[in-house]
Amino acid sequence: MTAFTVIGTPGDRRTAFFSDACRAAALPEPRVVSWPDVLGGGLELDGTDGPGPVRIDSPGEDTEVDALLRGPGDPARVGGGARWYRTFTRGLSRIAAEAERAGARLLNDIDDIAVMCDKRRCHARLLAAGVPVPDVLPAVRDYAELRARMDESGMRRVFVKPAHGSSASGVIALQTAPRGRIKAVTSAARRGDGYVNSLRVRSYDTESEVAHLVDTLAPDGLHVERWLPKATLDGRVFDLRVVVIAGEATHAVVRTSRSPMTNLHLGGARGDLDAVRRALGDDGWRRALDVCARAAACFPGSLMVGVDLLVGLGRRQVAVGEVNAFGDLLPGITGLPGGVAEGLDTYTAQVRAALSGNVPACTT
Ligand SMILES: Nc1ncnc2c1ncn2[C@@H]1O[C@H](COP(=O)(O)OP(=O)(O)O)[C@@H](O)[C@H]1O
Ligand SMILES: [Mg+2]
Repeated sequence: MTAFTVIGTPGDRRTAFFSDACRAAALPEPRVVSWPDVLGGGLELDGTDGPGPVRIDSPGEDTEVDALLRGPGDPARVGGGARWYRTFTRGLSRIAAEAERAGARLLNDIDDIAVMCDKRRCHARLLAAGVPVPDVLPAVRDYAELRARMDESGMRRVFVKPAHGSSASGVIALQTAPRGRIKAVTSAARRGDGYVNSLRVRSYDTESEVAHLVDTLAPDGLHVERWLPKATLDGRVFDLRVVVIAGEATHAVVRTSRSPMTNLHLGGARGDLDAVRRALGDDGWRRALDVCARAAACFPGSLMVGVDLLVGLGRRQVAVGEVNAFGDLLPGITGLPGGVAEGLDTYTAQVRAALSGNVPACTT
């Protein structure tokens, strides 16, 4: 068996976990190609024994890669998503061209990845396929347009998301009320004229502060959707991250939080999956996993996707918050009981699926 090639960040947890999975399957050590090699034009996928399957992983939080993608500046700053996306998708095109030249098989389709890394396009693709998603507002270019669209649609509570963001960077849970009252909950902290990512979620409650924040983020593109009040467990809201591998929902984690964002670095914590399953009931749980599989089916060239599944307050409604191209970093989580990945971590399950040929048809 020829070695896998991983395009990622050498030495980070993602590549280490994938190497562990290859080793456990008695495969040769994967070759790791760094994103700077891709972006700098030094990509070569031939390999010593011919081109192995290629896994494209996250450019991650590496500061060198971040500077290449977003341009120079404080790595903690919020924003820069438009440039990040342009550079990133150029890198994806290079990977596809090189894979084609070398005859290498990509485990995830570059167009799928590009759509998942644009929350507007991702939402539109899910909506077109009939996958439940929160209602969306038409495109807004600034705060004034945001308020106008909210008024027209009657939406008082929305999530404003940078189109190319991740890790909740720049995400705003915004609520408005009569007599000009407003509250924006976000991890973006004001620094000078801009914002930096903070580990503390805070709120802005004057219109001038909120307008400044939205107007700062808007040039990079915004996706705005209805705020779906989330179900709670022991007084904390929760959602689910469900990993779908080769069409099957294989892994799930509950993410709970006291703030509207459940991302773990913002004070979110893992919750009790059995309790959520009990709360949803057998039918509700099956429906939830089915929605995740349908969301994944919108990305047929991808061996794996990570679905953020929102569960509404009454626990009857579920909706997909986003689909993550690199959503498989779930340390310590093994596959759902009774499924093909029972007992396996997300990386091992992908190695197995790739080797069994049970892989969606990947195009380049
Ligand atoms: N429409 C929504 N209603 C309620 N909560 C939401 C909505 N969209 C996202 N969230 C919450 O916000 C967090 C971040 O949003 P997400 O779209 O996943 O962006 P990111 O790519 O930054 O993780 C998620 O943890 C989710 O729980
Ligand atoms: Mg998310």
